[in-house]
Amino acid sequence: MALDELVYVAQGRGLTAITSPEGATRTFEWQKHSLFMLPRNHESRFSSTQGDQPARLLHYNSLPLATAPLPDPEFFFSAEYRGEARLVGQDGSDLYSEAKVVESAGGGAQRLQWVGNFFPDMRAWDRIIPYKGRGAGGHVVWIRYPDSPLWNHMSIFPSKTYKKAHRHGPGTLIVIPTGEGYSYMWPEGGERVHIPWHEASVFVPPDRWFHQHFNAGGDPARYLAFHSPRGFEGNTERVIDVARDQIEYPAEDRIIRETFEHELDKRGLRSLMPDEAYRDPTYEWAYADDEA
Ligand SMILES: [Fe+2]
Repeated sequence: MALDELVYVAQGRGLTAITSPEGATRTFEWQKHSLFMLPRNHESRFSSTQGDQPARLLHYNSLPLATAPLPDPEFFFSAEYRGEARLVGQDGSDLYSEAKVVESAGGGAQRLQWVGNFFPDMRAWDRIIPYKGRGAGGHVVWIRYPDSPLWNHMSIFPSKTYKKAHRHGPGTLIVIPTGEGYSYMWPEGGERVHIPWHEASVFVPPDRWFHQHFNAGGDPARYLAFHSPRGFEGNTERVIDVARDQIEYPAEDRIIRETFEHELDKRGLRSLMPDEAYRDPTYEWAYADDEA
């Protein structure tokens, strides 16, 4: 295929062999919770190696976006053009070995980005930074792939807390590497859809629908988001008028808090949301001193 594709492993273990346009092949082993990239114009071959259960793989690409102006499948699947080999970086480094951290010049919330083609275990990934502004004292990792417009972020937030509602453009897919909870999604002025989730659940917030994530379990929850190619997110996180695209806790419908407390109650748990967060729209969780 003429487009990059990302793969997340929901279940199983196996091997993928990727062959570049020049005929070089790189084989790597994946397991449950692995995340990796299939570079455009490369051939890939998958083998499932766990005898007792099938592999379940989630593939993400931007084909719907690419075929909108160019609705000819042959162009994406049968083109002669092969492009460049992308198994090794410009400096000769193996892009399927450990990801590297890159500091972005612009700074800001996404200042540290992890760049590579293979992330062995998103459930265990611990190189995370504070994610201020979206509430719940959450942490995040920003993920990029060399020479690709695709990207991810994974958010990690504590048990018995919930994030602020927000909205943006289409094309974001969320998969849960670990955790128990639920999300609400709703169009402005419309009815809330309740989405209970657990490990390997998948859901997609529709274009401009608000969505809000609740950790109703006893452990930290993780959600891994796949994003539209850079530049096509449409009013994403970099909103100019935050007030229109994010609902601060004091401004949210009371039923949000009540339902959350009720859901925790059913599990014998109590909310860790501080009262102050419901009074002060600028409230921020305390992060450890060594965290920026
Ligand atoms: Fe979102």
